[in-house]
Amino acid sequence: MIVISNRLPFVIQKDDKGSTIRKHSAGGLVTAVAPVVVEHNGKWVGWPGPDYDFGAPLPESSPDDTTPTAGLKSSNVIPVPLSPNLYQSYYNGCCNETFWPLFHSMPDRAVFSADYWEAYVEANLLFAKNTIKGLDDMCTDDEPTLVWIHDYHLMLAAHAIREYAAKKQYKIKLGFFLHIPFPSWDLFRLFPWADEILQGMLACDLVGMHIHDYCINFIDCCNRRLGTRVDSKDMLVEHGGRYVRVAPLPIGIPFSRFVSLAKEAKRTIPEDKKVVLGVDRLDYTKGLPQRLKAFELLLVKHPEYIEKIELLQIAVPSRTDVKEYMELKEQMDQLVGCINGRFSTATWSPIRYIYGTIGQQELAGFYRDAAICFVTPLRDGMNLVAKEFVACQINSPPGVLIVSPFAGAGQNMLEALLCNPYELTETMDTLHRALTMPEDERTLRMNYLRKREQNQDVNFWMKSFLKAIGRLSEEGSPVVLP
Ligand code: G6P
Repeated sequence: MIVISNRLPFVIQKDDKGSTIRKHSAGGLVTAVAPVVVEHNGKWVGWPGPDYDFGAPLPESSPDDTTPTAGLKSSNVIPVPLSPNLYQSYYNGCCNETFWPLFHSMPDRAVFSADYWEAYVEANLLFAKNTIKGLDDMCTDDEPTLVWIHDYHLMLAAHAIREYAAKKQYKIKLGFFLHIPFPSWDLFRLFPWADEILQGMLACDLVGMHIHDYCINFIDCCNRRLGTRVDSKDMLVEHGGRYVRVAPLPIGIPFSRFVSLAKEAKRTIPEDKKVVLGVDRLDYTKGLPQRLKAFELLLVKHPEYIEKIELLQIAVPSRTDVKEYMELKEQMDQLVGCINGRFSTATWSPIRYIYGTIGQQELAGFYRDAAICFVTPLRDGMNLVAKEFVACQINSPPGVLIVSPFAGAGQNMLEALLCNPYELTETMDTLHRALTMPEDERTLRMNYLRKREQNQDVNFWMKSFLKAIGRLSEEGSPVVLP
């Protein structure tokens, strides 16, 4: 298997002594996919981070490394060199200023630029060329190699890889997974190079997305934009004499790891304190200003909560070179200041705001001890915070999950309280309902939520993808394809 993602599963950094080290990335994708890559002696292609000097040997993992990438040998890692200029236009530009807002249905924020697009094409070709290097020593006559491409950064990479494999008569299976929403036709067609994107994705054998709606949008766009024959019932698109399968494959989390973390975490929220918890990358898709305003409205309409509850908002810095993200940071600083200034008393402040990264162990403690997890994105591919919260809810009676229907998680986690974050009064009422929900109702809802996430964890997702692309039988053993 060769996995391709914008970022490698670890970042190359310099430590205090100037030595190059691997800094592990904690996401679910790495946790699920890295062990399989290691087990099958597969490879990972990606950008190693700005500190890596190209040509320098990659560091091996340290002997005490217990992360999922510990067994990933440097010889199986292919770093993709991106010059600072290319990275600026491809990653900050096309990925984060164009695709990110457009695919999250926020076209007004999207920048359409021919320079960005050129950089995107160039960067995708570079990722493809580096993958091809890996294919040369992996492809054998008997078993096809699985090439698994991840996310909106790399929607064009498959085409060049397929052409090369065909020329060399290599057997490959090309899979793509989109971790963000796929927009409706009416939005997607705003992108000036929409055909190229669809054709790029259709160079794969399987296109996976989190939910059915995104798949239907993609199939619709293929049909209306390219005129391809599609079968919306069986989710197939005919392209270049092949059928491309499109499949809803909702990602899960490493459930049992979060349970263990929650069991071990120290208590940082006192038992008598009701905390409403928000955990997000600082991103305008997450609906953070709306969330703060709904919380403010709750304090206005229900003054009985004053000095009784707290909103603990953790905002993880993200894409800090992009203007929209800098502006959001300013807006959040101001809003938190205003609300705290308005309601704080001598011994209490309504909002505790952490702008920074916190460790998984501490996070698991917050998830376990919070009364409510307030997940209100304006749009989100899936949202793993909602899932991590329910995994960590090991206390009895449990807390309550509030989730936006505009997140993929809101389509599957139906026992949560759903609320439209665009409507402040509805959001405020939902928060009040969650804060006053009887214990037995909380328990019943949380039991269902936890069961589902336990059964459909990240390994289940990984296996579902491998089954859908024909690399794993229904029983879970590897299949050899003709
Ligand atoms: C989303 C994307 C990921 C991305 C992550 C963090 O979840 O789907 O591909 O890695 O955001 O964003 P960043 O730009 O820091 O990689």
